[in-house]
Amino acid sequence: MVTRTIVLDKGEAEDKRKEILEYFQKTYELHERLYDTLRSDETFYMRADPLRHPLIFYLGHTAAFFINKLILARLIDKRVNAHFESIFAIGVDEMSWDDLNETHYAWPSVEEVRHYRKEVRQVVEKLIATLPLEMPITWTHPWWTIMMGIEHERIHIETSSVLIRQLPIDQVKPLPLWEICTDSGPAPANELIPIKGGEVMLGKKRDHPLYGWDNEYGLHMEEVESFDAAKYLVSNQEFLEFVEAGGYATEKYWTEEGWRWRNYRQAHHPVFWIIANGDWKLRTMTHIISMPWNWPAEVNYLEAKAFTTWKSEQTGQTYRLPTEEEWYRLRETQTIADQPFWEKAPGNINLEYFASSVPVDKFRFGEFYDLIGNVWQWTETPINGFPGFEVHPFYDDFSAPTFDMRHNLIKGGSWISTGNEATRDSRYAFRRHFFQHAGFRYIRSDAPVKIQQTTYETDALVSQYCESHYGKTYFDVPNFAAHSAAICIKHTHDKPRRRALDLGCAVGRTTFELARHFDFVTGLDFSARFIKIADDLLNNGRIRYVLPEEGELVSFHEVTLEESGFADLRNKVEFYQADAVNLSPKYSGYDLIFAGNLIDRLYDPGKFLDTIHERLNAGGVLILASPYTWLEEYTPRQKWLGGYKKDGEPVTSIDGLHEHLDANFDLVADPFKVPFVIRETRNKFQHTLSEFTVWQRTFIK
Ligand SMILES: [Fe+2]
Repeated sequence: MVTRTIVLDKGEAEDKRKEILEYFQKTYELHERLYDTLRSDETFYMRADPLRHPLIFYLGHTAAFFINKLILARLIDKRVNAHFESIFAIGVDEMSWDDLNETHYAWPSVEEVRHYRKEVRQVVEKLIATLPLEMPITWTHPWWTIMMGIEHERIHIETSSVLIRQLPIDQVKPLPLWEICTDSGPAPANELIPIKGGEVMLGKKRDHPLYGWDNEYGLHMEEVESFDAAKYLVSNQEFLEFVEAGGYATEKYWTEEGWRWRNYRQAHHPVFWIIANGDWKLRTMTHIISMPWNWPAEVNYLEAKAFTTWKSEQTGQTYRLPTEEEWYRLRETQTIADQPFWEKAPGNINLEYFASSVPVDKFRFGEFYDLIGNVWQWTETPINGFPGFEVHPFYDDFSAPTFDMRHNLIKGGSWISTGNEATRDSRYAFRRHFFQHAGFRYIRSDAPVKIQQTTYETDALVSQYCESHYGKTYFDVPNFAAHSAAICIKHTHDKPRRRALDLGCAVGRTTFELARHFDFVTGLDFSARFIKIADDLLNNGRIRYVLPEEGELVSFHEVTLEESGFADLRNKVEFYQADAVNLSPKYSGYDLIFAGNLIDRLYDPGKFLDTIHERLNAGGVLILASPYTWLEEYTPRQKWLGGYKKDGEPVTSIDGLHEHLDANFDLVADPFKVPFVIRETRNKFQHTLSEFTVWQRTFIK
């Protein structure tokens, strides 16, 4: 059976063409053979899982995916069946259990879909036979899209096998191709084995020889503390202790999310367990068998987590699931060949042994068992992109929508994980309540779980500011935040540069830039949304945001402290949320105060200006920048500094500034204008002029 992914950087082009053709055909056929286990055509229309489409969708989906991606990549220009390529395009793979979609679909017949699959197969085969091929095949290579289609189908072979397992038993039939393991017996007693801490390096380089999904690339390093890891995956027998201790009826063992799920599902035991007359049985994909107590328990993350919380209470020690980094640390204690380079799979994986789990003490890896294979292993880590993450232009929603802290990584692969799924670097994540052929190995550790909290900022205004501060420049207009800092530096060249205050700092660029010249800079903003970005960049080292391109199309962006050149300034900068009109007295003693695009957003700019001198050292400099766009929305009309008529004569904002500042400041330069650009979409920009005024605090006479 061809279940190994293709080496894309070696070999002759014509050999590779043949190899990929065979990989495509075997993948396509295996997927169809999987559905041979369905009792009848009607079974295709049953909802195995209320949160998922019926299987007829998946039969059409993987074929339609090929056509949709090949069209996007401009490798073909004709659709096979536009209607099918629409209805089979998007799965509800990732629905939450509390937002059920009741949409009804009029699905085509199985025969029609099988016919469609044949037509698509011919298109792909013809493409593989004729498309020019130059080695190596990389992320930007036209053939990447073909590999994408094949690996996508491999994922669905596994996820559909889980759906088949959830169908009523009388709707499925056992077949020799899908033969299960018959070994079972009492489980071995689990034990803990110490693992020494150390540095873990994760992420793939772009020139890696295997196909990869977007989330696998980049580089992530972490120091892992020592921990103890269980020798075996948790077996059904070990998990039974939790069930019998009333674990499913005891709220305190569950996370809040877990308890809500337990109540929704009315779960009393793992989903594939069946109890009849006090006798436990297990549902496999196509069988119901006497409970194999020494097979791994298959649960979702929420159940695994409840188990470890219960076990911690029992023992007075901290048990939990490993993080992604700890999982790799454990894997790296042994030398394990990676697919496709192994002779024979070292574990129950890649469909090289059985169409089911096997006992937890069957596949040994040094002191441990099942470091890979058998069932996936849940981790504590919600999936996120590694630094350097980029979406693939032809599949931009593969991972990014799952970077929401609600999808946890599963590692190691199961008996039916093939292709990319069975490689060391693959990273798959599911909602924590989802079922896969997945279980867990617990660890004992007092180290806190470190989680990369960086999610994609989708707030339109915040994203616009992220781009304006850290992104590209447009229309040759220099970066305003950096330009502002340069102006501040110019006007303090002959003065002490101890402390500076960046008021209305937004997402923080000017604060960082000032810190190159000042001993310490405080950035304050009224908006918690903005400050959070500045603070994330400072403390987590990176931020991510989504920009609208056109309509619903978006692009994903990442900024790191390192690449921005601010990493050395970490100890010279702080960010807080504060109201500029009502500042705490502790924000005093500055040599420079910069208020960029602030005053026309204050509810009482006059009050702000009347007292700001108190916060400056004698001789200190106040620099204001504002486009004077006075709006009732921010500033009540009677508080505007200018932009209105008084006694029939115009009052400008400059007049207002003088009125409030002359008592304590000298205006030391003529007002001047500096442009800035805010990008709204790919084709829409705001171009604004901000007027700078530079004020020096008068020496107290
Ligand atoms: Fe899919």
